[in-house]
Amino acid sequence: MLTGGGDCPGLNAVIRAAVRSGIADGHSLVGFRYGWAGVLADEALDLTLESTIGILPRGGTILGTSRTNPYADGADGTAKVRAMLARRGVDALIPVGGEDTLGVALRLHEAGVPVVGVPKTIDNDLGGTDVTFGFQTAVQIVTDAIDRLHTTAESHNRVMVVEVMGRHAGWIATHAGIAGGADAILVPERPFDVEQVCAHLRRRHERGRLFSIVVVAEGATPREGTISADGEPVARVAAADAFGHARLGGIGVVLEHEIEARTGFETRVTILGHVQRGGTPVAYDRVLATRFGVAALRAVAAGRFGAMVALRGSAIVEVPLAEALAAPKLLDPGLYETAGLFFG
Ligand code: F6P
Repeated sequence: MLTGGGDCPGLNAVIRAAVRSGIADGHSLVGFRYGWAGVLADEALDLTLESTIGILPRGGTILGTSRTNPYADGADGTAKVRAMLARRGVDALIPVGGEDTLGVALRLHEAGVPVVGVPKTIDNDLGGTDVTFGFQTAVQIVTDAIDRLHTTAESHNRVMVVEVMGRHAGWIATHAGIAGGADAILVPERPFDVEQVCAHLRRRHERGRLFSIVVVAEGATPREGTISADGEPVARVAAADAFGHARLGGIGVVLEHEIEARTGFETRVTILGHVQRGGTPVAYDRVLATRFGVAALRAVAAGRFGAMVALRGSAIVEVPLAEALAAPKLLDPGLYETAGLFFG
């Protein structure tokens, strides 16, 4: 097994479930450290009943993780991975990860390496599965933060801008925004007009509601031409990672400035950042991760390779990795419409 990409509450629950069910069926399991980096460097630890005791409620991953790409800079990742698996006598790989980690898994599968993927991301943006574990925990953390921001917003008559993760999908922002009663939610799928946001806030003020909560996803962007960046704070975009993804973040700071300048309402930004990925998984994620871990082990034992375990409705199924990775799962427009009924 290996865990790759950003960590996510529930990773340890997957590991525990695969180990418990695998050992019961007579298999032995090894965990590579730090995602694909551990496969390339042959850094691994035995996954036994003893080494996985007590990890079900623990956040993070006991294996460690990284965004290492075995194919970076044109490297022959397949040959390196294959050699390492042969050296250790590993029959099959269970990579637990998002689109990047599972993208590597797909390439390996296409080259004949036996793999079964497990979908993980707090962003909930993976195709093929209705939900990824870690998402509910992130939504709960953001909802709790919004509840807390409400009381301080109300005390000071302030606009509170809350920037949340989610990469290029607005799942976390929309779910937590609905749950926390946000007055505006800005998502990557719908470039926003800051004047419209300000109009919502002014309308609230006219009704005597002198505080507001604006949730903005880190990947949200202003509609072209609606914000001039001249001399103003701009969203931070740092160098790309090994899979070519730019680091997102900072749009909340832009909004804080714009809203205060346009409305005159005192405004503060809170960037929740990695707190959304930390700590213990909520019960829903522990259950989903456990079901995924057991299902992945069963798929491996049955030789059904090239699959990703997934949740469809209430059932755990296997979908081809290629199908799951064909396109990211973006926000359901209907859900956003529902959220919009409560704006302003
Ligand atoms: O994909 C999970 C995620 O937390 C995104 O929401 C966020 O954009 C990214 O990872 C942050 O990555 P890092 O931990 O490398 O800063």
